[in-house]
Amino acid sequence: MQGRAVYIKTFGCQMNEHDSERMLGILESKGFIEVDEPKHADIIIFNTCAIREKAEQKFMSSLGRVKYLKKKNPELKIIISGCIAQLQSEHLLNKAPYINYIIGPDNLHILANIAENELPQKVFTHENTDMANIELPAVRKTLVKAWVNIIYGCNNYCAYCIVPYTRGRERSRPMERIIEEVKALVEQGYKEITLLGQNVNSYKDKEVDFPALLEEVNKIEGIERIRFVTSHPKDLSQRLIKTMKDCNKVCEHIHLPLQAGSNKILKLMNRKYTYEEYFEKVNLLRESIPDISITSDIIVGFPQETDKDFEKTLNALIEIQFDGIFAFKFSMRPGTTAANLDGHISNDIKTKRLSTILNIQDEITERKNKSLEGTIQEVLIEGKDEDGLIIGRTKTNKIVKISSELQRGKVFKVKITKANRHTLEGNVL
Ligand code: 5AD
Ligand code: SF4
Repeated sequence: MQGRAVYIKTFGCQMNEHDSERMLGILESKGFIEVDEPKHADIIIFNTCAIREKAEQKFMSSLGRVKYLKKKNPELKIIISGCIAQLQSEHLLNKAPYINYIIGPDNLHILANIAENELPQKVFTHENTDMANIELPAVRKTLVKAWVNIIYGCNNYCAYCIVPYTRGRERSRPMERIIEEVKALVEQGYKEITLLGQNVNSYKDKEVDFPALLEEVNKIEGIERIRFVTSHPKDLSQRLIKTMKDCNKVCEHIHLPLQAGSNKILKLMNRKYTYEEYFEKVNLLRESIPDISITSDIIVGFPQETDKDFEKTLNALIEIQFDGIFAFKFSMRPGTTAANLDGHISNDIKTKRLSTILNIQDEITERKNKSLEGTIQEVLIEGKDEDGLIIGRTKTNKIVKISSELQRGKVFKVKITKANRHTLEGNVL
């Protein structure tokens, strides 16, 4: 290839964000630089998300918008990666024949070849059982916090979810590689590590399971904070709770998707726990780690969800008092079990249920944040917000804004003076 400028647009979750960091890592090692406008690029990559219809639509309109660039510059390479690439390669090539390559999440390493040569094959979506052993460089734009993959894929097959079809079976990365990467990140000045996986609790490298991995990462000198996403409630063990409590660097926060409060819906979703079992785990977490913040994901309008079922989700929010939630309208994903269920819910009802959920949770979040006024929190400084205020996070993952100048990457004791709905304000002590 002649020019060496790449434009990457990322849709979706942290896993995708981190895949983009790795794709940039591969391309930078081949002499590419990143540009922030497609019109200046020699390679355009769309790293796509299939989790909900909305994410798909967003990508499709972005794709349409670069067609004219290809007409102007036939040398331009357009690459589609991520979850839609994995699922819909044929459909994409039919719809947009100007696409040059399609790369699924298991085949990112092929970018190194694409950067060097014209390849005869266009589609790279085969299952890669060796993926967890392939080390790819990452270029991170973040300064204080870094993501580190520990497990790829998912074996859970929740009825609504497309991920097992796009990211394949679970494969854990060898522990030594993870430890090496974290040590290298510490050398580069990173202070906070987030261990990434669709279900980190299933991590298994020979006899090392997830709690054992956390213990090893906790021993690495120079890291201030360790976080992890995402945990499946069915796999959250007492041992993991004890490990979180005992490891001083593991933050007092867990993201534990509940999805629904009705046992009938949880069963249809194939979540493999009841609401009562979930609530018991929340109580165990709070008994062991009193200040822990717990956040969650909720889906409204899953097929066959009646008003009564929905009320159970509302009651769950009131009973549990999450620190925050992400709530979504159920989105039918072709090929999943939920797509074939009877009793799909109208969009109007989903919209109403979503807004009810969000209103209730907003009040809870605000009340929880208010209870922190006057307390002293350890805040890791991340940088500045758009108004120039210093911004950092508590160990419980709450954003704090501070008006004095403080060094990025350092931890300060901060007195919380004011709580807003989504942020806290404070003064450094
Ligand atoms: N529709 C709506 N929300 C979904 N999620 C996953 N699949 C779907 C879907 N088909 C949500 C779940 C999951 C989060 C990452 O996205 O709540 O925890
Ligand atoms: Fe991430 Fe899921 Fe979207 Fe894939 S489908 S990018 S795993 S959120």
